[in-house]
Amino acid sequence: MQDAASLDSLLKASLENFKDPDSGRPLSKTGQVSDWSITDGHVACKLSLTSHSKPIAQETADAFRDFLQAQSESIRGVTVTLGTQHRPTPAIGQIGLKAKSVIAVGAGKGGVGKSTLAASLAITLEKLGSRVGLMDADVYGPSVPHLLGLSGRPEIVDGKIKPIMSETMPVMSMGFLLEKDQAVVWRGPMLHGSIQQFLRDTAWGELDYLIIDMPPGTGDVALTLSQMLPLAGAVIVCTPQEVALLDAGKAIAMFEKTKVPLLGIVENMSGFLCPDNGKTYDIFGRGGARDKADSIGVPFLGDVPIYMQLRSESDEGRLREALNDPVASKPFEHIARALVRSLADRASQQSQIAALPVL
Ligand SMILES: Nc1ncnc2c1ncn2[C@@H]1O[C@H](COP(=O)(O)OP(=O)(O)OP(=O)(O)O)[C@@H](O)[C@H]1O
Ligand SMILES: [Mg+2]
Repeated sequence: MQDAASLDSLLKASLENFKDPDSGRPLSKTGQVSDWSITDGHVACKLSLTSHSKPIAQETADAFRDFLQAQSESIRGVTVTLGTQHRPTPAIGQIGLKAKSVIAVGAGKGGVGKSTLAASLAITLEKLGSRVGLMDADVYGPSVPHLLGLSGRPEIVDGKIKPIMSETMPVMSMGFLLEKDQAVVWRGPMLHGSIQQFLRDTAWGELDYLIIDMPPGTGDVALTLSQMLPLAGAVIVCTPQEVALLDAGKAIAMFEKTKVPLLGIVENMSGFLCPDNGKTYDIFGRGGARDKADSIGVPFLGDVPIYMQLRSESDEGRLREALNDPVASKPFEHIARALVRSLADRASQQSQIAALPVL
């Protein structure tokens, strides 16, 4: 049996080997563990995570508890309570946007559910405790305002565009700036200018995640975005059909060309969730996206079945309400957590690279 003092120093030294999922840095360096106590072999402490990590806070605390427990046979039990660490988000270069992770949701073709996924992911990440903004970069056919039942014209306050709020989530879309059914012919510089305004001149506040709904197909918006700011990465949506998977390949190539990291692939419309019996039927087959993800070494983030209520409610501007149904929200929660894990893995790899000695 180790005495409390040696157990204390053993455990404190072990913090070198457990990483903060947000920054990827060892907990020994981030000041996130506090309120230590060791009584009769029982260890208690508090782990304070950032709001960026909130979606995976509980699983991180559980993993930390198991990690501590495994350090010594003298430990009879470990209790980890969760707290919050506030960490200011630095502004991104010239753009001045304060968003920790800017994530593009794209696909190789239209109609696969990019906007549905982008909006649902944003709502879900917020529900799981993070600070989230949603930007509709589909300047050709903005659909985010419609999905969320939002309207109105953003005001200019102190030289900044005030985003339209979906409850507590700021949203910006070309849909707020155009007259209804107005068609726009975009020329390159205009496109660049409007994306820049959305990012630089909008009062987003401080965000953990800015989720960007990408227009279908062509890479001009992806290119514009990647030139303006460092994207944390892209999420690719595809449907199970082979054709869509070939198209997904196009989207993957597009993001790779613009040096945007791939955070993961989602399979949408993966089977039909029958409202009568709650069973899922694989109409177009399924699993193709997972195979594709495995073959190119990108995380598979999860799948979303065809869910009639999701379509009908979002058509009526009630996507947020549709996600109050646990059956509808479950796949998106799974995907949101997988995405945060994918970012945590990248952060950990990057901080490892940064910590390498310079030879
Ligand atoms: N999992 C799902 N279950 C049921 N309906 C869905 C699902 N995903 C998307 N849809 C429906 O499919 C249609 C297309 O979805 P969405 O607009 O999100 O696709 P998109 O890829 O953004 O399209 P576009 O290329 O036009 O921007 C919408 O009517 C939406 O409600
Ligand atoms: Mg869309």
